[in-house]
Amino acid sequence: MYKVQTLNNISVKGLERLPREQYEVASEIGHPDAILVRSAKMHDMEIPTTVKAIGRAGAGVNNIPVEVMSRRGVAVFNAPGANANAVKELVLAAMLLAARNICQAWDFARRLEGDDASINQQTEAGKKNFVGFELPGRTLGVVGLGAIGVKVANAARLLGMEVIGFDPQITVRRAWQLASDVRQAHTVDEVVANSDFVTLHVPLNEHTKGLINAERLSLMPEQAVVLNFSRAGIVDDEAVIAALDGGRLHGYMCDFPSNRLKDHPKVVTLPHLGASTREAEENCAIMVADQVRDYLENGNVRNS
Ligand code: MLT
Repeated sequence: MYKVQTLNNISVKGLERLPREQYEVASEIGHPDAILVRSAKMHDMEIPTTVKAIGRAGAGVNNIPVEVMSRRGVAVFNAPGANANAVKELVLAAMLLAARNICQAWDFARRLEGDDASINQQTEAGKKNFVGFELPGRTLGVVGLGAIGVKVANAARLLGMEVIGFDPQITVRRAWQLASDVRQAHTVDEVVANSDFVTLHVPLNEHTKGLINAERLSLMPEQAVVLNFSRAGIVDDEAVIAALDGGRLHGYMCDFPSNRLKDHPKVVTLPHLGASTREAEENCAIMVADQVRDYLENGNVRNS
């Protein structure tokens, strides 16, 4: 019998891939052979020595001490691409929200008080503050052309946007998937200098920490929008606040709760919802459960 510990709610569709006759699966279990985790931070956890595999039901593995685990011979699996469509849809939604000032306008509308006549009057006076702009002809810059970045780039083309992408390590597969009219830039600077929207789809590491900083923000066209649906540290929050206050940026849409940013009128923060669709949760859970099972039973390593 293999024992599998779940550290977060892992979709039942994934857990069904571990047959009951062979697997005991629980959130609290002694001597687990494997751990399935979504977003729980494992760096400070005591990871039992019986663990042979960890499956991360998502793309990023920065909540797992991968190097320490590798030294211990523990295989770490993730689910690249399994939630890419969900992230893409949220990025597109965020771009539209920003272009039409929808969050700010909604906030305005729900604070209106008085009778209908008074509300109509306040609406007439207030709506001029929420005049937006349209997407066709605007340029989207995509930093990181992996599974998510390519989907976002191609979808933006279908919305009539120009798209410029950058990825120093784009794979042949992704290059084939990318719409042929997406222009490939040579540097991040080239992307930010030419984009009305910049969206980030890179992991957080020593090369990407603070990638969008004051200097790069200063290269952006006036009234640009930055979208960060990847990891918080990739954008320098202080620099973004300065760029928003100075009028350089129209908005900052990010998928992380942030005390510093949450009350800024030009910022929309979300509670890391990019991968939070039923479909993505199922896809991720199935992908990692299959990999962990194949490893425990056959010693096969796919995508670790
Ligand atoms: C990811 O890395 O794919 C996301 O962080 C997934 C999630 O929200 O769990």
